[in-house]
Amino acid sequence: MRTTVGIIGGGPAGLLLARLLYRAGIDCAVLESRTREYVEQRQRAGMLEQGTVDALHEAGAADRLDTEGLVHHGIELRFAGERHRIDFPALTGGRTVTIYAQTEIVKDLVALQLADGPPLLFEAEALSVEKPESEQPVVRFRHEGRERTLACDWVVGCDGFHGIARDAFPAAGSRTYAHDYPYSWLGILADVPPSCDELIYARGERGFALHSMRSPSVSRLYLQVPNGTDPGDWPDDRIWDELAARFAIDADWTLGRGPVTAKSVTPMRSHVHEPMRHGRLLLAGDAAHIVPPTGAKGLNLAVSDVRLLARALTGLYGTGSTQLLDRYSELCLARVWQATRFSDDMTRMLHAQPNGDAFENRMQLARLRRITASRHAAAELAAHYTGLPLPL
Ligand code: FAD
Ligand code: DHB
Repeated sequence: MRTTVGIIGGGPAGLLLARLLYRAGIDCAVLESRTREYVEQRQRAGMLEQGTVDALHEAGAADRLDTEGLVHHGIELRFAGERHRIDFPALTGGRTVTIYAQTEIVKDLVALQLADGPPLLFEAEALSVEKPESEQPVVRFRHEGRERTLACDWVVGCDGFHGIARDAFPAAGSRTYAHDYPYSWLGILADVPPSCDELIYARGERGFALHSMRSPSVSRLYLQVPNGTDPGDWPDDRIWDELAARFAIDADWTLGRGPVTAKSVTPMRSHVHEPMRHGRLLLAGDAAHIVPPTGAKGLNLAVSDVRLLARALTGLYGTGSTQLLDRYSELCLARVWQATRFSDDMTRMLHAQPNGDAFENRMQLARLRRITASRHAAAELAAHYTGLPLPL
């Protein structure tokens, strides 16, 4: 097989890049190691920045998002038995966020891709990227029991944290920055209307909890749990009791309960690979960087990488200019480090220390008090949460 841009990974980054390139008239192909059913059901993100919504419009993939997405104007911070609202439009000059599940974005993009191309192969596992320094890099992959090759002008690794594209970067000249947090999230999906209109981020001595949603009838909730937690140790009643205790406030408020339809544990980590380009191989999304989910930045960063990359490749094939492509890594990493810092701040401010450090507890409360007392501090949180502008 041969194509102009070979894309490894059919998650949100790879699928969106394929659509943006297709609409710009640039030939590409997507290799995805899993089945269509698997990628469409994998429960993950749900909070979209305005820039992500704009990118889905640019890609012609926003019809369902426009009718089913829930526009939110703020979040609630809960701590010390109190509730405090952060009003995004008032603090950011009108910015909002949208709740629409990653599973639905993937379904929308897969349907478009299968309807009018470019090629998207499921159960096509990339094995290696060869000759990324040359004019003609090649992806070796396995499909339908056979080993095959995809010859490309450019290869983009959108193959997530466990992908193989990063392996083709030379050790000399590459560097990874990583941090593992001493806790994980237990996430559930439940058939019950959300008990709130906007997301609730709750901090308490029992640990962090997040109330999110997927639709007016489906809730998505997360609990801080110790690393190594087995979801099997958390029967539904135990989860609901713990969530109710962590969201409790000194006012009348009840957490609605309902059947739990999915349950999984996610470790919390930061991981950044520098640089994001080597020769004709580029990385985008989780393949290059992971942030802890407290700031809701992972999917949004994947989308902003891909937006920049689509513009860079469109510039190259439209006008012959390599200017943006040459700055791709630098421009993405500037945003990535800001998002990593914001996600780290949110994570440290809201999670209970496993060792119960009393000083750290007071620091968390002082940070939260500052945000709720100072318009300037709240505006800083709102600016990052709703998304920094694309550097173009
Ligand atoms: P992925 O979604 O990981 O996609 C990579 C794809 O590559 C996969 O389909 C994989 O099967 C495929 N692949 C891997 N190896 C190969 C190979 N060798 N060959 C071919 N294909 C391969 N982000 C937010 O912005 N907001 C949130 O609210 C949010 N909440 C989250 C909550 C949780 C519990 C978790 C776990 C994550 C959350 N995130 C959130 C992060 C977000 O889900 C990820 O950042 C996002 O999925 C990144 O997309 P991606 O396309 O880069 O990678
Ligand atoms: C969701 C996940 C997050 O990590 C977050 O910060 C906000 C929302 C979600 O899955 O809806």
